[in-house]
Amino acid sequence: MATILAIESSCDDTSAAVLREEYLLSNVMASQEVHKKYGGVVPELASRAHQQNILPVVAQALEEGGVTIGELDAVAFTRGPGLLGSLLVGTSFAKGVAIAIGKPLIEVNHLQGHILSHFIRIEGREHREPKFPFLSLLVSGGHTQIVRVNDYLDFEILGHTIDDAVGEAFDKCAKLLGLGYPGGPIVDRLAKEGDPSAFRFAKPNISGLDYSFSGIKTSLLYFLRDKKAENPSFIEENKRNICASFQRDLIEILLKKLILASKQTGIREIALGGGVSANSELRERISLEGEKRGWNVFLPEFKFTTDNAAMIGIAALYRYRKGLFSPIDVAPISRAADYSQP
Ligand code: KG4
Ligand code: ZN
Repeated sequence: MATILAIESSCDDTSAAVLREEYLLSNVMASQEVHKKYGGVVPELASRAHQQNILPVVAQALEEGGVTIGELDAVAFTRGPGLLGSLLVGTSFAKGVAIAIGKPLIEVNHLQGHILSHFIRIEGREHREPKFPFLSLLVSGGHTQIVRVNDYLDFEILGHTIDDAVGEAFDKCAKLLGLGYPGGPIVDRLAKEGDPSAFRFAKPNISGLDYSFSGIKTSLLYFLRDKKAENPSFIEENKRNICASFQRDLIEILLKKLILASKQTGIREIALGGGVSANSELRERISLEGEKRGWNVFLPEFKFTTDNAAMIGIAALYRYRKGLFSPIDVAPISRAADYSQP
């Protein structure tokens, strides 16, 4: 029975979790409010906040999990991708704990964590998980990918964005409308009160299973510039309709390639992952598409959509079982988008 402490510090959330096998014993998170007034994550401030948060967050995770440090079998951490200064805090802390208790250190790729979050179990809660091979639509602030998952440690990236991530497009929309950061949840909320057919934006024309979101971002920028020139209060009067229309277009772009990937591979086990998987319309549309196409759709629980250490812990468990440990001089990698090999 492996008991693993996992630490996630890739961006602006400091999180620690304890798992016993697939079962989650605790998952503690400290979000950083400091970035809100800058309209985006400030890397230097993020690493300082991680430094302040990490000890209390880990201590609380152990306490809530009812586990002492001596009972741990391994210490896991996010090696990348992410902000280097932020990753360094989690990496160094994990190393310190591993050395102190003389137990193995396990590096985890953040994206694998998002994908494998469907395997986290909670005592007393009904559990459903995708069967291999499944397709993961991974949608976050830094990545947008369609991944064929053959096994816990066997990933094939079938398509990815050639420019911006879909989460960036959500955040940019919120920024252009003056709505605050992070923008995704705000756009999601306002879109519920708007008309998605009010406006149309330029859709990408990319072959295969790749994505592109820079064109639609620019299309929104010029659209707003032109409309504001005609009517200075255009944004204020139309923000709900703009959010609903822009969100609808983003989701259509996402779904089009996902449907194509399912047709090409014949895989109907479809799992959503990453920060944008909290989006209510995306969840609903994927579920509807699933009913229509005979897919088995897996939506992550809300608390496992944004960055959290529980997903790092579950990904680490499968590495632990194979003895895939990291050397003590392992260094974080800020760009680690290719994780197809263990
Ligand atoms: O996975 P995540 O927490 O961090 C990265 O690894 O990037 O994803 C953060 C992204 C942000 O762009 C945020 O705006 C977006 O997820 N997001 C959402 C929603 N909640 C978070 N986007 C759309 N709708 C949401 N409800
Ligand atoms: Zn993430």
